Parts: sequence; structure tokens; C-alpha cells
Amino acid sequence: MLSTEKQYVQWFEDETLHSARWLSESNHAPPARIVLVDDKTTADEAYRLACEGTSLLWRGDFHNAKQLLQALNRRIDRTNERSEQRKIKKAANKSTADKLVTPEAIPNLFHQQRQTQAQRSRILSRLLLELETGYVSKLRRAPDVSAACMAAFGQLDESCLLSFRDLQGALGAAQWREKGVPIESLGLSIFPHYGVFAPTRHEYVQLLLDAPLPDTCDVAFDIGTGTGLLAVILAQRGVQQIIATDLNPRALACASENFVRLELSAVQLQQADLFPNDAPLANLIVCNPPWLPAKPSSPLEYAVYDAKSTMLRGLLQGTKQHLAEQGEVWLILSDLAEHLQLRSRDELLGWFADAGLAVKYRLDTTPKHGRSQDNTDPLFAARSLEITSLWCLERV
Ligand SMILES: C[S@@+](CC[C@H](N)C(=O)[O-])C[C@H]1O[C@@H](n2cnc3c(N)ncnc32)[C@H](O)[C@@H]1O
Repeated sequence: MLSTEKQYVQWFEDETLHSARWLSESNHAPPARIVLVDDKTTADEAYRLACEGTSLLWRGDFHNAKQLLQALNRRIDRTNERSEQRKIKKAANKSTADKLVTPEAIPNLFHQQRQTQAQRSRILSRLLLELETGYVSKLRRAPDVSAACMAAFGQLDESCLLSFRDLQGALGAAQWREKGVPIESLGLSIFPHYGVFAPTRHEYVQLLLDAPLPDTCDVAFDIGTGTGLLAVILAQRGVQQIIATDLNPRALACASENFVRLELSAVQLQQADLFPNDAPLANLIVCNPPWLPAKPSSPLEYAVYDAKSTMLRGLLQGTKQHLAEQGEVWLILSDLAEHLQLRSRDELLGWFADAGLAVKYRLDTTPKHGRSQDNTDPLFAARSLEITSLWCLERV
């Protein structure tokens, strides 16, 4: 989905001024300085230029660009490791008490980690390629990327410049969209689109299968449906009318495709900020909001970060107008934000109470994905404690 505001980028090549549409899903500004690079450019030279803020327009072999990206990644790792070692050395000179990670340092760790990731993304995104009209690459040994780009970025009737990284994202998404994500407990696969929250870690599905449906459950809402996964679970459990909403048009297209594929006629889709318009009161409202209260830095992060918990608090407050008298809210939320000290349990419980909701019961599960077990992850201490819950809330 291209931003409505068109941006162009210009560069000199063969003594001619060239121009192309600028595409950046990570919201990076059009490059201010571009140099042409190819198979002869060394990884060290490319890294130095990228770190200085120069963008590198690749004119070599397509597959060699992938190698260069990996080489840049390794150089970023090495630089980060060196800075980490400097910190460890500095800490070694401190007293034991000073060395302990204080509770105040934990939110800083999270913000530092995001900064490090943003810096990596900026550097790697400086390796660019040009695609001609119809998303055609003229690079040597270039695969046909047009279908993947079309699916990810939409129709584009002009040539464009984009980062190799964004192209890889589009190619990866095309594979997920074709293969699907198997959801074993449902006995089916969900097919994510580019830019839509992919349920690759889906331990919470079992919670939605285990929770008893309210006595009356004629109408349910799935708020922030993404691929449509939660609506699919409710439909499988026999709920007759389900209205699924999302703000992201890519999510709506994706959910619609999944519903058609699974022949689910019980689900209606609406583009809406939280609640559907012109809908009856719901007996059940399910929502798996973004779990971390932090500012998204690009549209791709809207499914993961919820600035100031706006969606979560809006959802809870909105239940006053949209939930039937005996209805239930099933809120899927991990407590990672609590372990990172970005939100406290008391704050969460306070938001429930402010919205006139009480906890009827809670079902918990622990994550099984690799990152929760990776002790080299800087956020391991918090991730290893993470619990994902289904909070069943009812009116007080
Ligand atoms: C964590 S994802 C969950 C997706 C899906 N329900 C699932 O469990 O796989 C959160 C979803 O909420 C959507 N979203 C964020 N803010 C929203 C809002 N104000 N109204 C509707 N949807 C929103 C995002 O686009 C995203 O698809």
C-alpha cells in the first residue's frame, strides 16, 4: 500500500539526471546522497558509506547484493558487540551493587534495544535497487519480483527506488502468503499478507478454544482482526454473527481472503477505528491488541506497538456502548510490557475498573517461541518471565 504522498528521488548516472519514485515501507526519507555500487565494491567500503549516511544504488549481480547485505549485517553485529564489551568493561570497574540491573534500568534497556534496531534498519536500508515500471529488475540474475512487489506495495505505473531490505520483506511475505501459517490446534492454515500481523507465535489460540462461550453468544466482535484468526476461531466454535474490524486496509484484504478460503459466511468485515458502525450490541468482544505501549516508527509496527496504550484503553472504554448486558470481553494480552516496566499490573486493573469492567476469570499460557528461550537477547530477563493471558471481563 503506497503512501498517498508521492516522493521522488534523483541521481546522476552516465552524466544524466535520473529520477524514480521513492518507496519506503519503513518510513525512511528519500536519500539525500546516492552513489552507484556493484560487485567490485567491498563490504568495508559499503559499510563506511552507509554509516556516513550515503545510499548505495546497486548495479551489480542481484544475488551479490544479498551477500553484501549479510556482510553489512555482520559488521553492524561486530560494532554492537564492541560497544557492548566497552560497557561490560566499564561496569567491571564499578562496585557489585552498581553492576546489578536496577529496576529503573529495565525500561531503558527496551528503548536502547529499539534504538539499536532502528540504527541497524537505517544502515541496511541504504542499499537500494531500482525497479522499472511493473516492478521489473534489470539486474543480472534477478528473479521475477513483480508479483511479490505488486502484492506488497500495490499497483505502480512508474519506476521506483527501494531498499533491498524492503524487497526482501516483500519476497518473504509472498512466501508466507503462499505457504500459510499452520495453526495446528485449529487444523488449518492462515495466510498472512505483507504488512499484516502474522500469527507465527500463536500460543493464545488454545486460550480462545478453552474459554467457555457466554451463555448467549449470537453476536461477537473481533476488534483488530489482522489475518482474521480470532474471528475464524469464533466461527469454528459456532458463533452465528461475527463482525471483524481493523484500521489497516491490508489486514481487511487479508482477513477477507482467509474467510473466503475457509468458506466462512458468518463473518462480516468493516474498516473501523475499534468498534463497527451500525452494529447490534455484542455478547462477546475479542481483541488481541498490540502488546507493547510504545510509539510505532512505521506503519508495519502498528500491530506490535500501541502508543500510550491508546487502542487498549479505547477498547475497554468503548465496551460501555457496545457490550450487551451479560456480555463478555476476551482480551488477549501478554505481560511482557509489565516485565519491561512499560505498564504496571495496577495500571491495567485500573483501566478495567474505569471502564466498568470486572475480571470474571483469566486463562494463562507461556510462550514457546525461540526468543523466550534465547539468553543472548538483551531483553531475555523480561521475556523469560512472559505470560500470555486471556482476560475474561464482564460488566461490574
Ligand atoms: C496484534 S495484531 C492482532 C491481529 C489478530 N487479531 C491476531 O490475533 O492475530 C493487532 C491488530 O489491531 C489492528 N489495530 C490497531 N489499532 C486499531 C484500531 N484502533 N482499530 C482497529 N484495529 C486496530 C492492527 O492493524 C492489527 O491488525
